[in-house]
Amino acid sequence: MEYLRCAVVGLGTFGSFHARVWSELPYTRLAAVCDRDAARAAALGAQYGVPWYTDHRALLAQCSCEAVSVATPDHLHRQVAVDAARAGKHVLVEKPLATSREDVNAIVQAAKQNGVRVMCDLHNRVNPPFALARQRIAGGELGEVRSLYMRMNDACSVATEMLSWAKESSILWFVGVHSLDLLCFLSGSRPRKVYAMSTRGVLDSMGVPAVDLYQTSIEMENGTIAQMENGWIVPDGSPALIDMKCTVLCRRGMVKINGSDSDLLRVYSPQRMETPSCIARPEINDRVAGFAVDNLCCFAQGLLESRPFNSTLQEAADVCFAIGAIHESARLHCPVEVQYS
Ligand SMILES: NC(=O)c1ccc[n+]([C@@H]2O[C@H](COP(=O)([O-])OP(=O)(O)OC[C@H]3O[C@@H](n4cnc5c(N)ncnc54)[C@H](O)[C@@H]3O)[C@@H](O)[C@H]2O)c1
Repeated sequence: MEYLRCAVVGLGTFGSFHARVWSELPYTRLAAVCDRDAARAAALGAQYGVPWYTDHRALLAQCSCEAVSVATPDHLHRQVAVDAARAGKHVLVEKPLATSREDVNAIVQAAKQNGVRVMCDLHNRVNPPFALARQRIAGGELGEVRSLYMRMNDACSVATEMLSWAKESSILWFVGVHSLDLLCFLSGSRPRKVYAMSTRGVLDSMGVPAVDLYQTSIEMENGTIAQMENGWIVPDGSPALIDMKCTVLCRRGMVKINGSDSDLLRVYSPQRMETPSCIARPEINDRVAGFAVDNLCCFAQGLLESRPFNSTLQEAADVCFAIGAIHESARLHCPVEVQYS
């Protein structure tokens, strides 16, 4: 295969990014687009000169693409991913893989039964500071990981303005999956037991019925302990959309990561100072670059060259099972053992 033809379902912030990447990479082509908002689908279809649809089943029936990106809201991944797998398409699902055990298992089953490959877009594995930290830790010079701290907090406007469906998801599904995947990636293990507490009230008062913030203590299967914080009530005056900090304490050394902005670029406007991300998906010379693109490249190259993806479907599923246990722990106010499979 000379190049990979990819379609995109769900054309909001991230789906339109996928569409752009598939249209810009030299070894991929954008084949078709779909959004249940007809105006949005028609606009993207016209922009890229590709067929557009408002129903993913019509796209799957008519489009001869090899792969489909699923970028619908967090709680609406299952149907599109399962139908795409049944149509014999490889699937790139935006994170989280899904928001319930049943949905996760349905996607895993559909992949197995139809012999297609499914990757979840856990792109922080190729976020340079995290990728390099993992290499240094795996190299052994710092000794084994003993404890991890991970904070990933979004600005308020993510829940109140950006995502019309915030209350159907949660900050754990939206961002906690990245945090937890990185804890697994850096420690080389997965959670055995979780104990979470949550607080709410800020978003409720702004008309979004959702938990504000979770703090979770985690015991990993290899004995490492971790603390994870995920909230979406950081003030909108904050210089970056995400406040992301990580410390990995090892037997002989330590790694610290400032993932929010790294202070590489400061832009001062009359109202505020911003630190836009230079490494996630910056636009340079009219093309989109950065680690978010790199992970999409990994998916396409993985298919074209029969190479492994950056993360396995099982790893993405396990992260969802652990996030489910964290929700349960916060609800029950007690520690919960994670049930895998
Ligand atoms: N990898 C990352 O770091 C990252 C960043 C942002 C968003 N995401 C993920 O991408 C996904 C989409 O997020 P977003 O911010 O682009 O959301 P969004 O609300 O901007 O866009 C979602 C789009 O899906 C469409 N849609 C809903 N149901 C549909 C269906 N059944 N068929 C076709 N279209 C449908 C909506 O009309 C909307 O245009 C989410 O799962 C989110 O968590 C990932």
